[in-house]
Amino acid sequence: MSEPRQILVTSALPYANGSIHLGHMLEYIQTDMWVRFQKLRGNQCIYVCADDAHGSAIMLRAEKEGITPEQLIANVQAEHSSDFADFLVDFDNFHSTHSEENRELSSLIYTRLREAGHIATRSVTQYFDPEKGMFLADRFIKGTCPKCAAEDQYGDNCEKCGATYAPTELKNPKSAISGATPVLRDSQHFFFKLPDFQAMLQQWTRSGTLQDAVANKLAEWLDSGLQEWDISRDAPYFGFEIPGEPGKYFYVWLDAPIGYMASFKNLCARRPELDFDAFWNEGSKAELYHFIGKDIVNFHALFWPAMLEGAGFRKPTAVNVHGYLTVNGAKMSKSRGTFIKARTYLDHLQPEYLRYYYAAKLGRGVDDLDLNLEDFVQKVNSDLVGKVVNIASRCAGFIHKGNAGVMVAGDAAPELSEAFLAAAPSIADAYEGRDFGRAMREIMALADRANAWIADKAPWSLAKQEGKQDEVQAICAQGINLFRQLVIFLKPVLPVLAADAEAFLNVAPLTWNDHQSRLENHQLNPFKALMSRIEPAKVEAMVAASKEDLLAAEAKAPVGNGELAKDPLSAEIEFDTFAAVDLRVALIVKAEAVPGADKLLQLTLDIGDERRNVFSGIKSAYPDPSKLEGRLTMMVANLKPRKMRFGVSEGMVMAAGPGGEEIYLLSPDSGAKPGQRIK
Ligand code: 2FM
Ligand code: ZN
Repeated sequence: MSEPRQILVTSALPYANGSIHLGHMLEYIQTDMWVRFQKLRGNQCIYVCADDAHGSAIMLRAEKEGITPEQLIANVQAEHSSDFADFLVDFDNFHSTHSEENRELSSLIYTRLREAGHIATRSVTQYFDPEKGMFLADRFIKGTCPKCAAEDQYGDNCEKCGATYAPTELKNPKSAISGATPVLRDSQHFFFKLPDFQAMLQQWTRSGTLQDAVANKLAEWLDSGLQEWDISRDAPYFGFEIPGEPGKYFYVWLDAPIGYMASFKNLCARRPELDFDAFWNEGSKAELYHFIGKDIVNFHALFWPAMLEGAGFRKPTAVNVHGYLTVNGAKMSKSRGTFIKARTYLDHLQPEYLRYYYAAKLGRGVDDLDLNLEDFVQKVNSDLVGKVVNIASRCAGFIHKGNAGVMVAGDAAPELSEAFLAAAPSIADAYEGRDFGRAMREIMALADRANAWIADKAPWSLAKQEGKQDEVQAICAQGINLFRQLVIFLKPVLPVLAADAEAFLNVAPLTWNDHQSRLENHQLNPFKALMSRIEPAKVEAMVAASKEDLLAAEAKAPVGNGELAKDPLSAEIEFDTFAAVDLRVALIVKAEAVPGADKLLQLTLDIGDERRNVFSGIKSAYPDPSKLEGRLTMMVANLKPRKMRFGVSEGMVMAAGPGGEEIYLLSPDSGAKPGQRIK
C-alpha cells in the first residue's frame, strides 16, 4: 500500500458583496467532488475557502446599505455558508480574508518581500474624487470615449468601440460615486517587482502545473515582459493597513490568495494533527491545488507563485482552471430567468441533480460548460433514476418478499463482476485527472450492462414460476451488489444518495476499496425510494422565480432600474429615448396575489381603449391587493410583453421606494383619465 497523500485544496474566494449563483457553483461543486474522491481513497485531503472581504466595492456597498463593512461581510458569510452546505460542498473550513490570521500572514509575506528587495515605491498620478475624498479606480470613473465620442464609458475601455485608454484620456470625466468632476492627484504607491521572478515563472508555468491552453496564454504575457504590480491603495479603503505605512492599504488582490493560507491556519488551530509549516514551507511534501475560473489566471499563476517564492513559501502543485457557465447556450441572463442564484435553485430542486449534471459535462479543459435545462431534466432522469436507482428498486422487493431481506451468497454473473472490478482503475484515473465526464460515462456504461443483464434474466417472470426462487434470489443479490459498486463510484458526486443507499444496504460508510468486496448472506434494510425524477414544472418555477428576483431587485432600486441606481451618471438619457417611452395613466381594475409567487401581484389595468395584464413585484407593500382596485397609477405601455411562468406581462407600473414594505405606487392628480399620455 502506498502512503496516503497529504493534499490541500482551495476554490476561489467569493466576494463578500453578492450572492452565490450557479456559475459560482460550477467551481465549488467540481472542487468538492475532487476532494470527496480523494477522501474516499483514504488520502488526507483538506478543502479550505473563505469570503474575499476587502476592497472599495465592499466598502461602498456597506455604506449604501447604512451598515459597517464588518456587518456586511458577516451577513454575506452566513448566506454563503448555508448555500454551500445545502449544495453539499463540504469545506473543512470556510473563513474570511478579514481575519487575524490573514492580517499576520499578509504582513509577514509583505515584510519578507520588502526585505528581499522585491518591493518598489513611486509616485502615481490618479483621479481623485474631491467630494468623496478618495482616489477612483478606473471602473468608478465615467466619461466620453476619446476615440469614438460615445458617452458614459468606463475609465479604462469603451464598450462601444472597444478602445482601451488611460482614465486621463477620457473626455468630461465624472466620478461614478458622487458625480463630481475628479481632479488629478499624486500619491506614493507600493509595487511588487514581478519581473524579478520572470525566469522562475517561465519555468514553473511549463512544469505540468497548468493546462496547456493556460500555459500558452500566460506565455503571451511572459514573452512580452512582466510589469511591476501596484499592491497599495490609499485610504479610505476596507482592508489591511500596510505595516509602517499609515494611510496605505494592501490592494484586495494582494491579501486574497493569502486568504487560502489564513483559512488553513485557522483550521490548524482546531485540528492539532495538521501542521501549517508542513503544508506551506519551502520543500513541503504536501500537494497544493487551486481550482479557479479562467478570468483570474494571472493572479494565481503569475503573481501568487512569485509572492510565495519571494517570501520563502512553497508554490502550488497545480492550478486547475475551468471555463464559464452558460445556460441554454447563452450567458446567464436576468431577464430570461437564467441568472439563477444558488438559493433559488435550492428552493425548487435537489442539489444532487445539478452535481451530477455538472460532473457529466465537466472535462479537464477550460471550455465553457452549458447547462441546457431540457437536457438537464432528461439526463438526470434517465441516468440516475432510470439507470442507477432502478437497479436497486427492481431487485430489493424480491429479496424482501422471497428471503426476508437477506442477500444470498454466490456470484450469479462472474463476467459482469469482473467488468465492474476492471473498470475501477480507469474511473479512478478519470476522477484524479478531473475528467468527471469520462468517469460518469464509464459508470453509466456499467449501469447499462447491469440493467441489460437483469432485464435478460427477468426475475419478475421467474418469480411467478414454480421452483425458481433460488435463481430469483441469486439474480437480485447480484443486482444489489452491482448497485453497491455503482454507488461507491458515484459517491464523490452524490453523497446523499450514497448515505441513503448505505442505510438501505445496512453497511458502514463505503470507501473506494469496498468496491472489491461483495455482500453475501447479508441482511438489507427496507427499501425506500432513493431519488425522484425531476419534474419539468419545477425547473420552470425556478426560472420564473429568477425573473421574480430581478423584479424584486428592480423594485428595491430607489430610481428606475438597477443600472440607474448603481450609477447616477447613466441617469442622463437623450430626449428621444425619453420620448420613446409611452407613459399612460392606468386604472387598476383588478389586483390579486399570484398563487405560487412570493413577490408578485397580478394587475388588470384599464388604459382607455384596452385592458392590460401586468405582473408587478410589489406584493410586500400591498399585502391586501384588493385595496388597490379602483385606484389610478402610471404605466409604461410600450414595454415589450414578457412571458412569465404565470402568464404574459404587458407593461410595467411605476413605483418608488427602497423595497420591502416601502414601495409606493405612483398616482396622477385626481381628474386624470385612464389612457391619457404623460407628457
Ligand atoms: O474573482 C473573484 O471572485 C475573487 N474574489 C477571487 C479571489 S480568489 C483568491 F485569490 F482569493
Ligand atoms: Zn469608443
